[in-house]
Amino acid sequence: MREMRDYLATRRTTAATFLDSPSPEQATLDEMLRIAARVPDHGKLAPWRFIVFEGAAREAAGEVVASVAERKDPQRDLMEERARFTRAPLVVAVVSTAGPHVKIPEWEQILSAGAVCLNLVHAAYAFGYSAQWLTEWIAYDRDVLAGLGVEPGEKVAGFIHIGTPQMTPTERDRPDMAAITTRFAPKPA
Ligand SMILES: Cc1cc2nc3c(=O)[nH]c(=O)nc-3n(C[C@H](O)[C@H](O)[C@H](O)COP(=O)(O)O)c2cc1C
Repeated sequence: MREMRDYLATRRTTAATFLDSPSPEQATLDEMLRIAARVPDHGKLAPWRFIVFEGAAREAAGEVVASVAERKDPQRDLMEERARFTRAPLVVAVVSTAGPHVKIPEWEQILSAGAVCLNLVHAAYAFGYSAQWLTEWIAYDRDVLAGLGVEPGEKVAGFIHIGTPQMTPTERDRPDMAAITTRFAPKPA
C-alpha cells in the first residue's frame, strides 16, 4: 500500500523524447490495456477504444502527419511532424467514442476516456516503464485523425507515449491546495 501511495505522491511524466526501448512485449501490452480499460464507466458503455502504434507503423503514422502538415502549411518543420510517433517506441491512442445516450450524459462518457488515459499511464509505470500523455495539434486535426483511422464522430483523448525512461524528471510546481479546496458550508438563512 505504501508503495502505491509513494508512487501516486511522486509520479512525474517523462517527456516522450526521453522514452526509449525496451517497450512492453505483446503480452505485457495486452495486460496494460486491460488495466487501462478497468475504469469507472457509467452504464458500462465502454465509450472508448485503443489504436496501437508500434514498430514501422509509427513511421507510417508520422508520414500521415507530415503530409497533412505540408499541405496545410508548407513552412512547417516536416522532420518534427514525421517524428510525432517515433519519439517513444510505443504510442497508444485512447479514442473517445462518446455520443448521445438516453441515460448517460456524453460528458460522463468523455470523462471516462480521460480515466482510461491516466490508468494507462499508471499501468505503464506498474510494469517498469514511463509514459507521457500528449494530444498536440494532431489530436484536433480531422485530416490527420482520418488518416490514423479515427472516425468522424470520435475524439482522441490522448496519445500515450510509452517506453523506458532515459532520465529522471525533476519536480514541477503543483497547485496550491488551499487555493483549490473549499469546504461546503450552508449559507446562513
Ligand atoms: C489531455 C491532456 C493533453 C496533454 N497534451 C499535452 C501536449 O500536447 N503537450 C505537452 O507538452 N503536454 C501535454 N499534456 C501534459 C503532460 O501529459 C503532463 O501532464 C505534463 O507534462 C506534466 O507532467 P506531470 O504528469 O509530471 O505532472 C497533456 C495532458 C493532458 C491531461
